[in-house]
Formats: sequence, C-alpha cells, structure tokens
Amino acid sequence: FSYPSPALQTELRQIADAMVAPGKGILAADDPPASLGERLRGVGVDDGEEGRRRWRQVLFTADPEIGQHVAGVIIVPETLQQRADDGTPFPELLKRRNILVGVNVDKGVVPLSGSEDECTTQGLDDLALRCAQYKKAGCSFAKWRCVFKIGANTPSYLAILENANVLARYAAVCQSNHLVPIVEPDVLLAGDHDLERCQKVTETVLAAVYKALSDHHVYLEGTVLKPNMVTPGAACPQRRPARDIARATVTALGRTVPAAVAGVAFLSGGLPDQEATDNLDAINKHPGKKPWPLTFSFGRALQGPAFRAWAGRDVAAAHAELLKRTRINSLASMGKC
Ligand code: 13P
Repeated sequence: FSYPSPALQTELRQIADAMVAPGKGILAADDPPASLGERLRGVGVDDGEEGRRRWRQVLFTADPEIGQHVAGVIIVPETLQQRADDGTPFPELLKRRNILVGVNVDKGVVPLSGSEDECTTQGLDDLALRCAQYKKAGCSFAKWRCVFKIGANTPSYLAILENANVLARYAAVCQSNHLVPIVEPDVLLAGDHDLERCQKVTETVLAAVYKALSDHHVYLEGTVLKPNMVTPGAACPQRRPARDIARATVTALGRTVPAAVAGVAFLSGGLPDQEATDNLDAINKHPGKKPWPLTFSFGRALQGPAFRAWAGRDVAAAHAELLKRTRINSLASMGKC
C-alpha cells in the first residue's frame, strides 16, 4: 500500500483547505439536466442546453464579491464547454472571481437490485480518464453523491456497504488524478422518522464511509465531506429547533468523522433556504468539539431564491438574491448570523 506522494498530498491538502477556507463555502450548480430543465420549463425558458447555459450565465456573472463567500462551484461536465454571451468560457468567469471549479463525475443514481427501493451510484467506468481530462481542463475538485433512504428496514447493510465502497473507489481515483474528492453520502430528508433515528442512521453510514476510505488508502486531509444535517424527516410531525439539530449533527460527526478530514460542507437537501442557514449557524455556535471547518455546499438553498427572482428575465434581481444568500451563509459558516 502507499499514500499519494508527498507532493501530491500537499497539492490535495492545499486545494481542500482552500475549499473550506474561513467564511467560505461551496455553490452546488451541478443540477442534473433533467431537473434543471423542469425548473426552466416552469418559468417559460427553453429547457434544452441553451436554457441551461442562460441560467448558468446568471449564476457565474454575479458581482465579484461572491468570491469572498464562495470558494468553489460544482458544475456538470457540460458547463466546462459553455460560454457567456461575450464568448468567455464559464470556468474562466469563475477563475476571475477567485473561485475553484469542481465537477460532478458520477453518472447518476440507479436501483440496487433486490433491495427495498434503495440505490447505488454508477460512474466508475472511465472515471480515471475523465478525472485526468477535467484536471487538464482546470478543475480542482470533484463530487460524487450517494443516497440513503430511511425507511422501516432501510438503509440496509447491503446499501450501506455498497455505497460506502463506491464512494471510496471514487475518492481514490480522484486523488490519483490530482482532484480533491467531495465525498457525499446523502441520508435523504424524505420520511417521517424523528431526529434520533436520523442521527443513528447518519452515524452508521458515516462510520461505514470512513472505514471504506481507510481500506482504499484515501488521504483524508485531501478530502471534503458533504453530509446531510441531522434533522427530523420532512414528514415527521415533531419539529425541532435549530439547536437540537446542531447538537445531533455535531454529535454524529464527532463520533464518526476523523479529525484529519479537511472540512465538512453540508448539502441543503430540500430544507427551506433560511432553515438551512439557521441550522448551519447553530451548528457553528454549538459548543461541542468541532475539529473541522463546518460550512455549506448548498444547491437548492443557494440557487432557489435567485432562480425565483430571475424567472427567466430579471438578471439583476437574481444576482441580488444570490449575493444575499451567499453572504448570509458565509456568516452562518462562522456562527455569526
Ligand atoms: P442541495 O443543497 O440542493 O441538496 O444540493 C446539494 C447537492 O450537491 C446535491 O448533490
């Protein structure tokens, strides 16, 4: 066995640290074309590649102040080739704002045969080749998402083992191609389970993920974890204040995530925008042991308000909303809301 060379370790660690630098988080703009298409249709915009380009242009032309709050943007491979109206490649717009480019390299969630409606994530074929191309194209990091459903009998042992292993294989391939892997085990918000159940499932999943990362010789200092916050299920009648969510989340992470990990950047998972922010703020205010930066890697909770303000027309309003959400989440990542 061997870890990456000392030079590669340094490169990976520097990227990972920059991704979670104080007061900064990540903007997830890697919506699958189908779900972005649906939102575009909803506001009467072309749902094909041109519509997707128009929305991304809105996101990537915000005031350069955004670079003070956002360290990295996650895009899909298609975005690497796209350009603004004036011909500037999108990755170049991000670089001018001092923002690192990351790319979603998974090929989507597929059913896990024989399971109770559980899934795994595909995309390992050719992954090394694709990572090498993305690094050459200027990407610094990658993302791969696995999902876990909380049900009466799920997540199953099979789903936990399979998804932990595929996340670890992905992470190892990324690192050998000089990309920092964002490791995203997403325990879904759907369900009527309570906070305590979500905490136990999250702990079980994260413990399996870090065992697999260790087995696969992944260099933890050159990784970023993108977990769910520990919350009651969306359909749970018993709602809980942000301080309970913060305690459950920090406890679950503390029990399972090695201190060597460069940082934790939460997904928003369909939580209302302000709730995601309030939880992040409470997590950072929570007095427990927290050996990693705890920040945001929000998709819906950052893009949602801007998209609604834009509605296919009002670029200035969209920019104002995007800046507002990134500013406030930057404060939340420091517990200063
Ligand atoms: P949400 O914040 O909308 O959950 O998206 C984050 C993400 O990247 C999901 O893979």
